[in-house]
Amino acid sequence: MKTYQAWRLGIGDLIMPAPRHRPPLKRPMWIIVLISMVSLLLIGAYVYPPRRYAACYIFSSEGCKTLEWIPPTPVRDYTDDELVTRVVIRDILMTPPVQSKNPKIAFMFLTPGSLPFEKLWDKFFRGHDERFSIYVHASREKPVHVSRYFTGRDIRADKVVWGKISMVDAERRLLAYALQDPDNMHFVLLSDSCVPLHDFDYVYNYLIDTNISFIDCFKDPGPHGSGRYSEHMLPEVEKKDFRKGAQWFSMKRQHAMITLADSLYYTKFKLYCKPGMEGRNCYADEHYLPTLFHMVDPGGIANWSVTHVDWSEGKWHPKAYRAKEVTYELLKNITSIDHSLHVTSDEMKEVQQKACMWNGMKRPCYLFARKFYPETLDNLLHLFSNFTSI
Ligand SMILES: *[C@@H]1O[C@H](CO)[C@@H](O)[C@H](O)[C@H]1NC(C)=O
Ligand SMILES: *[C@@H]1O[C@H](CO)[C@@H](O)[C@H](O)[C@H]1NC(C)=O
Ligand SMILES: *[C@@H]1O[C@H](CO)[C@@H](O)[C@H](O)[C@H]1NC(C)=O
Ligand SMILES: *[C@@H]1O[C@H](CO)[C@@H](O)[C@H](O)[C@H]1NC(C)=O
Repeated sequence: MKTYQAWRLGIGDLIMPAPRHRPPLKRPMWIIVLISMVSLLLIGAYVYPPRRYAACYIFSSEGCKTLEWIPPTPVRDYTDDELVTRVVIRDILMTPPVQSKNPKIAFMFLTPGSLPFEKLWDKFFRGHDERFSIYVHASREKPVHVSRYFTGRDIRADKVVWGKISMVDAERRLLAYALQDPDNMHFVLLSDSCVPLHDFDYVYNYLIDTNISFIDCFKDPGPHGSGRYSEHMLPEVEKKDFRKGAQWFSMKRQHAMITLADSLYYTKFKLYCKPGMEGRNCYADEHYLPTLFHMVDPGGIANWSVTHVDWSEGKWHPKAYRAKEVTYELLKNITSIDHSLHVTSDEMKEVQQKACMWNGMKRPCYLFARKFYPETLDNLLHLFSNFTSI
């Protein structure tokens, strides 16, 4: 009863008639203040219930058990390295590169030796000097160049072992060379078996007129996707963020900078994503960049590669085209594809199909294609002017 009155006093001054003779103030006042604070807290708890608990106390009865409290995404305490990496990456993303008066595209060739399609590329580049630069990383033998555009464009190269981190190292080396030219705004990684599908202007505008990097990226819950993840990558790389994608990227300058600035995530993949790791074959070149960019700038990547490859035969390697297969019809087929395709490696074999959206428009996905045998060169040279004008 006493408590009740005090409570009424606390918040109900206006209702209660003023006491006729004021009692000595000290003790009651003290209690009033205290009780007022408690009641304010109770009101506060009612108005802003701390989710589950408030629901249980105030509305008691049912509902209480079904209301599961969903914790906010736990904010990990970042390690020093992680904090540094995230701050640097965020700042690179917030700082647009200095606008070049003469924006160029860097074509970076990753090849064991000579490039079988140099003559075709020569045709592609002709008449567009000043708008591109070429870098050749020949990992096995010094290439013999037949096009003046390629002469003197070899960079210092090192051995590359398929599926190993040395592949990523070569990509980073190419980016480091290409970033030295401040006019290079977009960086395309190509192999010796890649060919262009469009003329230079088309490719140039497609890449320069967008702020997106074309990095292939999808979530594969199967053995060739998340199945390759190692918990040694924790805490920085969580399984839910592990992604997969073909290595043949094209990226904008900021993303090229990020690829070089990162050593934290790179080291995780170098140590824990390799063939034969814990009985699994993890290939850093298929997982490092897709996972990195999925984590740091998911909206900044297209999630598909502009280099077409045909996996439809379901073999260990993609289809490689022979001379007799290279026809106008084949090239027209490839250039007209306007959706990207990913198939998961679990029993579901789920097909993920997405329209290729370029600056909000649906457009054909591909600018380049692989894999072509060297014997297809003559056909391609012969057809080039025809199919590139599609
Ligand atoms: C790309 O980003 C720059 C700088 O933020 C902006 O000025 C430009 O309009 C963007 N271009 C496109 C095609 O969105
Ligand atoms: C790429 O996929 C991520 C989800 O993984 C999504 O957030 C992002 O918007 C996609 N990029 C584009 C350009 O649609
Ligand atoms: C081109 O595409 C059509 C329709 O999908 C298909 O029937 C035909 O076999 C394809 N031709 C080649 C050469 O790939
Ligand atoms: C190229 O296209 C022209 C006109 O469409 C056609 O006459 C010519 O036969 C084509 N050449 C080849 C090699 O397909």
